[in-house]
Amino acid sequence: MKLVKYLANLGYGSRREVESLIAQRRVRHANGAALDARSTPEHADIRVDDRLLDPPPGSVISLHKPAGFVCSSNDVPPLVYDLLPARFRLRSPMMATIGRLDRDSTGLLLLTDDGQMNHRITSPRSHLAKTYEVDLARELRGDEQALFASGTLRLESDPELLAPAVLHVLGATRARITVTEGRYHQVRRMFAAVGNHVQSLARVSIGGLTIGSLPEGEWRLLEPEDLVTLFASPPSTP
Ligand code: URA
Repeated sequence: MKLVKYLANLGYGSRREVESLIAQRRVRHANGAALDARSTPEHADIRVDDRLLDPPPGSVISLHKPAGFVCSSNDVPPLVYDLLPARFRLRSPMMATIGRLDRDSTGLLLLTDDGQMNHRITSPRSHLAKTYEVDLARELRGDEQALFASGTLRLESDPELLAPAVLHVLGATRARITVTEGRYHQVRRMFAAVGNHVQSLARVSIGGLTIGSLPEGEWRLLEPEDLVTLFASPPSTP
């Protein structure tokens, strides 16, 4: 792909704006030579204003989502995109969230501009387990673990039974829960179904990938080995 289109697709501006950047000799090869609009250099060799480019097309990034940010590009701010370089929203295809976390939820959120990868991660057929830690308003009753694991729980207004989920009790009002589905407000509604209320919800892992030490509000590019880790874990079985 020609340089103008390549940079425009990465959100560096309209084609006309990118042409202007090139005319101003602000787009250079790593060796310092100004690049030509028709050139097709390697991603890693391109600099704009002496800076490395944003992650290449087909990238997956992880974001440690803080509470209060919405997983949408056109909702009431603040949006998760406010935590990322502005260009990520302007890419074509755009850097889209892989599934969602509620506004008040925190933790591991993945984004990608690769539609197939997005589908592969969210597809129920991938059975990628998602693990959340929750703080609850009321003490656990004691029967939640068996009920969630049973595959007999039905959420209000959902005709389908929930797939079995794994609950680890961490304290009287604290638990870790692993689910393989991605229904609307699923974890909050599961605890509501047992008479409780989720006060805080943090996603700690997707598949084999954990949030690790990524600070809240920060993002990082996933390396190929991270994607192997993501898909390496077997489907969660209760
Ligand atoms: N389940 C929920 O209820 N909320 C989230 O943000 C994620 C899972």
